[in-house]
Amino acid sequence: MPVTTIEWLDKQVRIIDQTKLPHELVYLSLSEVDAVAEAIRSLRIRGAPAIGIAAAFGMALVAQNSKSATREAFFAHLESAAETLRKTRPTAVNLSWALNRMRQVVAEHCDQDIATIKKRLMEEAQSIYHEDQKICREIGAHGAALIPQAANVITHCNTGALATADFGTALGVLFAAHDQGKKLHVYVDETRPLLQGARLNMWELMQEGIPCTLICDSAAGFVMQRRKIDCCLVGADRIARNGDTANKIGTYSLAVNAKHHRLPFYVVAPVSSIDFKITGGVQIPIEERSPEEVRTALGHRLAPENSPAFNPAFDVTPHELITAIVTEAGIIYPPFEQALAALEK
Ligand code: MRU
Repeated sequence: MPVTTIEWLDKQVRIIDQTKLPHELVYLSLSEVDAVAEAIRSLRIRGAPAIGIAAAFGMALVAQNSKSATREAFFAHLESAAETLRKTRPTAVNLSWALNRMRQVVAEHCDQDIATIKKRLMEEAQSIYHEDQKICREIGAHGAALIPQAANVITHCNTGALATADFGTALGVLFAAHDQGKKLHVYVDETRPLLQGARLNMWELMQEGIPCTLICDSAAGFVMQRRKIDCCLVGADRIARNGDTANKIGTYSLAVNAKHHRLPFYVVAPVSSIDFKITGGVQIPIEERSPEEVRTALGHRLAPENSPAFNPAFDVTPHELITAIVTEAGIIYPPFEQALAALEK
């Protein structure tokens, strides 16, 4: 059983505080929407699907706690919470996708009593959570077919149980392949600056007993050149209609390296990570985080104080560099545009 990264428990949102991993396994119970927003902003909960789930539970929490005197005040309270949550992290489209689902519930039930709306919001948040569990397993089953019987794989950033409600997306594919008895060796990019690979992927893979080796992000090209690598697997925070994919900073460099070494480069994500409103990667908003995250390594100063630093949290891999996109609906090969459009509901 994968770890429970997020759940609704005792009228609160309970999460694992991922900033403490792998040294401490600390659970936080969030009882206010501002605490949920802070947890998303500071990456205590992170990964596109998990962020969406956190936002949905955040909305259920606001509804549950609301003491608004009038219906108008109740609706205004919900809308302002949705805005607070939406602004926490701009790149992962799963966040606004989940909030839109919650808003839709409010719109569809606006003429009903407040108790009914509160109940429906909780049910919708739970649906988003349970759907993600099922989606992870479907993605895992489709994606495992791409993994050879004995495979050396490179991955970037955490896309496992810690990023979803179940065993993950790209990492979930590896867990599914491992369950099928395939022999894997996973090279794990450390994922500077916040080290999701070093801290979170290594923790998850080692717990599952999957052979894995940690590498610096900049070692990926050399590893492709000198070791027999079969493919790269990464997740996504937002996929445009043409297949351009935003994912953790460093993904684009990995894709360029994979192209040079003629290695398959697979993007693995739920359909909720596809932004059907945008045609290409230039339209994807890229989160810029504090330069301090680059000047330091998890709080330890590396560079002279106030060194100018640039810290985009994501980059965009052009669709030409992507071999296939794996979703719960199956595996899509280029040209992506038409196949992705067919997934729009
Ligand atoms: O900044 P993070 O840790 O939230 O970034 C996460 C990623 O880039 C993941 O690859 C992506 O969200 C997919 S998680 C299944």
